[in-house]
Amino acid sequence: MKIIIIGGTGTIGKVVAEKLDPNHEVIIASKSNGDYKVDITSIDSIEQMYKDIPNVDAVISTTGASHFGNLSELTPQLNEIAINSKLKGQVNLVLIGQNYLNEGGSFTLTSGIMMDDPILKGSSAAMANGAIAGFVKSAAIELKRKIRINTVSPNVLEESIDKYGEFFKGFNPVPANKVANAYVKSVEGAQTGQVYKVY
Ligand SMILES: NC(=O)c1ccc[n+]([C@@H]2O[C@H](COP(=O)([O-])OP(=O)(O)OC[C@H]3O[C@@H](n4cnc5c(N)ncnc54)[C@H](OP(=O)(O)O)[C@@H]3O)[C@@H](O)[C@H]2O)c1
Repeated sequence: MKIIIIGGTGTIGKVVAEKLDPNHEVIIASKSNGDYKVDITSIDSIEQMYKDIPNVDAVISTTGASHFGNLSELTPQLNEIAINSKLKGQVNLVLIGQNYLNEGGSFTLTSGIMMDDPILKGSSAAMANGAIAGFVKSAAIELKRKIRINTVSPNVLEESIDKYGEFFKGFNPVPANKVANAYVKSVEGAQTGQVYKVY
């Protein structure tokens, strides 16, 4: 399969790429460091990516930014970060990509545990995560040409504990290897409309 991993230079994306690379043609896309540069917050950039990389079988998104901060200090402007990036950015990969993906292709998006298991300072990210999960379940019943869609909702990763451990006190971090398997299941399996919770 020809697979684009958007966010493929990141903590999750790198491990997903390592797993898929031996058996597929994997293209790493990201904002500044990938084989292909794309900005998911720009509709034009997404459209250009699908034009530049034709005949794609699977699109994996392991990206999406959110602001972490107390609800009392969460302004509409700061909330826009998650809306523009993690939510709209990933949804636009599907809305635009559905016209380009090969028949029988798949989309795999990323949400996260905070939608089910809230943490302090996590409401903006949780909003985007829950919206992604809802979108995926609903889009699955309408996508044409046997195109499938799933999302992976990871717990905090062992590999990210130095960065995010402060926010996730008492959580049981999961290895990137286990999280990456959910993306492999989404791409190589037959399921659609699933939220793979790796908690
Ligand atoms: N890590 C965790 O513990 C964890 C747990 C649950 C959910 N998640 C979610 O999983 C996703 C990935 O997390 P991560 O920790 O792997 O992230 P990360 O290590 O920070 O990597 C982010 C990736 O996204 C790319 N990127 C950033 N902004 C972009 C944009 N506007 N357009 C295209 N690509 C962009 C980066 O590209 P460049 O390298 O070019 O900058 C990089 O490849 C996020 O949505 C996060 O919320 C992570």
